Amino acid sequence: MTDTLARDALHTVRLRLNGTSRGAPCETRTLLSDFIRDSLGATGTHVGCEHGVCGACTVQLDGVAVRSCMTLAVQAEGRELATVEGLCDADGPMSDLQDAFKRHHALQCGFCTAGILMSCDDYLRRKPDPSEAEVRDMLSGHLCRCTGYTPIVRAVLETAAQRRSRALSSVPSFPEA
Ligand code: FES
Ligand code: FES
Repeated sequence: MTDTLARDALHTVRLRLNGTSRGAPCETRTLLSDFIRDSLGATGTHVGCEHGVCGACTVQLDGVAVRSCMTLAVQAEGRELATVEGLCDADGPMSDLQDAFKRHHALQCGFCTAGILMSCDDYLRRKPDPSEAEVRDMLSGHLCRCTGYTPIVRAVLETAAQRRSRALSSVPSFPEA
């Protein structure tokens, strides 16, 4: 009887992790953060408060930043899950956002950086020209104990500016009539 209950309580969650099909069994109550780290082995996602306050565990589901400690693994069934490991290829160059974090020393101790990167990556897709106040507002969802949000803000604003500049230079110019 106990065995039957234990077996019934397991679900196999199948999803795409950073573009690769993955699947693993978990209980209905398993948090997405634990599933990502313990079952999928993607330990770049960190866990801090485990109750939705600090933002360290932030990942993206279908491109939208979510707190993985406030999401059940079964809710990710069939969806696109992106973690910090997916921001660039394992042996490829870092993304422009990661590179800006490195140049501005926005990494600080690094513990909450993965979650911040995933939020910023989502945010910049939706908001390509943010003001400093808007970036600070977005970052208020992340509690970084290193303080010094200033390098992070600089990195985000610089990435946004560089992307706008690249987008402008890729617009074909037409000869004047
Ligand atoms: Fe999820 Fe803190 S660990 S918000
Ligand atoms: Fe250290 Fe945020 S980078 S706590």
